[in-house]
Amino acid sequence: MAEVVIVENAAAAGELVAESLRSLIEARPDAVLGLATGSTPLPVYSALAASVHRTPLDVTLVRGFALDEYVGLPEGHPQSYRAVITRDVVEPIGLTPQNIQVPNGNLETIESAGRDYEQAILDAGGVDVQILGIGRTGHIGFNEPGSSFASLTRVKTLTEETRADNARFFSSPDDVPMHCITQGLGTIRRARHLVLLAFGEAKADAVAAAVEGPMTASAPGSAIQLHPHVTVVIDEAAASRLANLDYYRHAWANKPAWQGI
Ligand code: GLP
Repeated sequence: MAEVVIVENAAAAGELVAESLRSLIEARPDAVLGLATGSTPLPVYSALAASVHRTPLDVTLVRGFALDEYVGLPEGHPQSYRAVITRDVVEPIGLTPQNIQVPNGNLETIESAGRDYEQAILDAGGVDVQILGIGRTGHIGFNEPGSSFASLTRVKTLTEETRADNARFFSSPDDVPMHCITQGLGTIRRARHLVLLAFGEAKADAVAAAVEGPMTASAPGSAIQLHPHVTVVIDEAAASRLANLDYYRHAWANKPAWQGI
């Protein structure tokens, strides 16, 4: 089962996960990070950036793969996930831009982009830690409800709910692309460690569906239940619909000192 860690706030989640990423990079300087966009993982990236500047750590060999990208945005569009990852992750932490890959949403090469991305992940030896947020529809990456647990990187049509949620980043709701290219649930499940973060009441249903099931393609986040090493880091509000809260708290309070997340 997933280890569920209930933290006071997003900043505390950021510190906890950043510390774990730091240990990974110390042990393995060319670690492969799975990078999520959205507002949820931002505290992780800023805490890691602060840690790296406070106590220097060589991150130049770290590699990264983004989860997803919009299809058809002009190159360099500020809301393309390539631009977001560069701005929020690569620059503040000081990663090497050439080591960070994002699915290619360019229409000219879109038919082979999924296959190419899968190959690139395999060539890198797979993802060590995959950071995940979760959408209100229960999606991880951009795997909207109905996505196969075996799916690989491919083009998906966004739900209108997800487009509406992401409209805040665009000048008009109509500007939100209709299609995206996203790692599949099968791709995500191949990462060696999944770290799912969620904050706020609006995510409580999606978190409960992901963590406590039932396991169904209708709740894409529930695919994490098939993974042997998952850490779910959430605040009280996002945890509020979980049935086994007492047990999660009990397990965390009695966690063996030698065990990382
Ligand atoms: C987008 C991203 C997801 C992210 C979700 C939630 O749809 N593709 O990876 O988890 O938004 O976003 P937020 O973290 O801003 O709530």
